[in-house]
Amino acid sequence: MAKLRIGIIGTGGIAHAHMRAYQQFEDVDIVGGADIIPGKARAFLDEFGLTKAEAFTSAADLIKNVAMDGVSVCTYNKTHAACAIQALEAGLHVQCEKPMSFTLPEAVEMVRASRKSGKILTIGFQPRYSYMRQKVDEIIASGAIGKVYYVQSGGGRRRGIPPGTFVDADKAGFGCLGDLGCYSIDECMHAIGYPKPLTVSAVATDYFGKNPKYWPDPDNFNVDDFSVALIRLEGDITFIFKQSWAMHADSLGDTLWLGTDGGIKVSNGFDYANKPSRVMHFTDVNGLQTDSYVLPSNMYNAYAGPKEVDIFAAKVRAYCDAILTGGPAPIPGEEILYNQAICDGIYRSSKLKREIEIEIPAI
Ligand SMILES: NC(=O)c1ccc[n+]([C@@H]2O[C@H](COP(=O)([O-])OP(=O)(O)OC[C@H]3O[C@@H](n4cnc5c(N)ncnc54)[C@H](O)[C@@H]3O)[C@@H](O)[C@H]2O)c1
Repeated sequence: MAKLRIGIIGTGGIAHAHMRAYQQFEDVDIVGGADIIPGKARAFLDEFGLTKAEAFTSAADLIKNVAMDGVSVCTYNKTHAACAIQALEAGLHVQCEKPMSFTLPEAVEMVRASRKSGKILTIGFQPRYSYMRQKVDEIIASGAIGKVYYVQSGGGRRRGIPPGTFVDADKAGFGCLGDLGCYSIDECMHAIGYPKPLTVSAVATDYFGKNPKYWPDPDNFNVDDFSVALIRLEGDITFIFKQSWAMHADSLGDTLWLGTDGGIKVSNGFDYANKPSRVMHFTDVNGLQTDSYVLPSNMYNAYAGPKEVDIFAAKVRAYCDAILTGGPAPIPGEEILYNQAICDGIYRSSKLKREIEIEIPAI
């Protein structure tokens, strides 16, 4: 069978993880790469021994000159949309890194291009392939906690501002929100079937990135390092979002889903050390308040111990399988449109310093 021919657009940090995953698969050939920094795509392909794969300084040239089935878009946030749309319009499948884009209108155009071309647009949220995350999703989907009326994201970094293009608004658009925040939104929203976001009231700050005590180059730090928001979702669900790159605490709290018949809590920070699991299920049995740990029960190999899942490789494999089977996108752009609507809403509300309505154009 002919191998899948994949190109990589944007050959910086995360492109390496894409390449390492693709190279594990015998049915995939990386046939080309593109990066706007001259020489960068060539050096990247050579680093992986792909001296015959072609290198370009623009996505357009890669798409025009190399026969491919699909691409990974690994550019910084602000160029996701342009690169993904070019590829889709040329009839290529697209795996785009998270966040889907910078603005909501860009994400809408990406979905339109995917619909028009009939090609896959999948967005790179690899935690979807984490075993315990899938178990949480399954418990909530089973109806065990009843109607969910409140969701809260948790976690956050105490010290973890990433270097490079992440802190440059011209390239990344937003900071912690686009880096970690979109993951939190996906964790909270996917578990409850991505209800439509209606309004958002948000605050974003940059107290750590702007302080030389915590970040070496405050003059060139121009994005958020913390944000918090109240989001109203369709179905009378309240979503409290918070995320940080840096703070004076071990965690912004637990991730929570509260339902009419039960609750799920994922502990973050130091709270779950020495406990059997991060995940707890709370309910009421015959009037008794009952709490249980949801224990990790991954596949076990008698010689090697618990079978670890390489979630990044799983995400890249799911994209390849979707191309091969003509199947649906594993993490469809249509679904992540609501994630992007929330990111866009948080960004705009925090700039405007007031609540805003989220309006999602018809696709
Ligand atoms: N899924 C994950 O675990 C994960 C981890 C890190 C980063 N990311 C995401 O990956 C993306 C890239 O992050 P990074 O750390 O690799 O950034 P990076 O700055 O190291 O790499 C991005 C590369 O894209 C290139 N580029 C930008 N616009 C381009 C264009 N129009 N055409 C071709 N090349 C272009 C840049 O020159 C740069 O080399 C971001 O959106 C980030 O959120 C995802």
